[in-house]
Amino acid sequence: MIDKINELLRQVEEFKPKAASELEEFRIRILGKKGELNALMEEFKSVAPELKRQLGQQLNLLKNKATERIASLREELQNASAEQSASSGDLTRPGSAEHLGSRHPISLVRNQIVEVFSRLGYTVADGPEIEDDWHVFSALNFPPEHPARDMQDTFFIEKDPDILLRTHTSSIQVRTMERQRPPIRVICPGRVFRNEAISYRAHCIFHQIEGLYIDEGVSFADMKQSLLYFAKEVFGEHTAIRMRPSYFPFTEPSAEVDVSCNLCGGKGCAVCKGTGWLEIMGCGMVDPNVLKANNIDPEKYSGFAFGMGVERIAMLKYGVKDLRLYFENDVRFLHQFDQAL
Ligand code: PHE
Repeated sequence: MIDKINELLRQVEEFKPKAASELEEFRIRILGKKGELNALMEEFKSVAPELKRQLGQQLNLLKNKATERIASLREELQNASAEQSASSGDLTRPGSAEHLGSRHPISLVRNQIVEVFSRLGYTVADGPEIEDDWHVFSALNFPPEHPARDMQDTFFIEKDPDILLRTHTSSIQVRTMERQRPPIRVICPGRVFRNEAISYRAHCIFHQIEGLYIDEGVSFADMKQSLLYFAKEVFGEHTAIRMRPSYFPFTEPSAEVDVSCNLCGGKGCAVCKGTGWLEIMGCGMVDPNVLKANNIDPEKYSGFAFGMGVERIAMLKYGVKDLRLYFENDVRFLHQFDQAL
């Protein structure tokens, strides 16, 4: 009988149930009415009196140990299942839809413009936002007294030598000419900075995309055709362009490019101020002085350059009337471009 009791004590100690039902089965087998303990109690009645003391103590020990162990195992199992249901949540609840973010309209338009020009063989070039005088002005044929060099237009960081925030991404074109020989065909997207009062049509930080194409025999007609292709791709099949004479220090001749107003179809409306045309960019044939400043032979090579404001193109494309909306990141505004992906 003593062996039997010790064997049960060992079982109680080693028992490790995986589920509550297993524990309950074990409890019934040991402590139940018709369980092992009661059977031993029955047997105990007929043991010899000199053995009663020792066996009685062992039986009590078994009873207490089994009761304690079963209670603590029960608690363990309960804690484990509570933890599990807290971490996996209510699996029967209907799922809630995750709202996906959308691309910023400026990114959408920039990506589209880059994509259109990459089809024409342009690659993307990059450059720093903090620049020196040479890359932003001098290498681009700006005369020393040009008003763009004025504090009123340019954010200077240091004077003599001048370190400044680039006012246009033409600086990337200079950096490209420094490290690459013609043929050059690059598109330069980036942030630019001008010391302007913030209004519905101007901001001190905005985005530009400029392009540069230099090779032997590049003509004004090549430029016009490339920009017409661009305008049709971005504003639609029926878009026309016109060019008006203009002036930039780094191009000669220079022109301002207008597209036919896509809102009124060229008849004249409030957006195009009755003219039927919308100004979208500046362009021109690269001035021989710029080629010379960058060690490119103007007798052998010619090229064209163009530059546009991404905010302006996006305003015209999406009918946005206030440029400041692009910088405020109001989700009610941004969500309107969910579908534009
Ligand atoms: N850099 C000019 C600007 O910022 C745009 C431009 C680029 C004009 C290239 C002509 C040629 O306004």
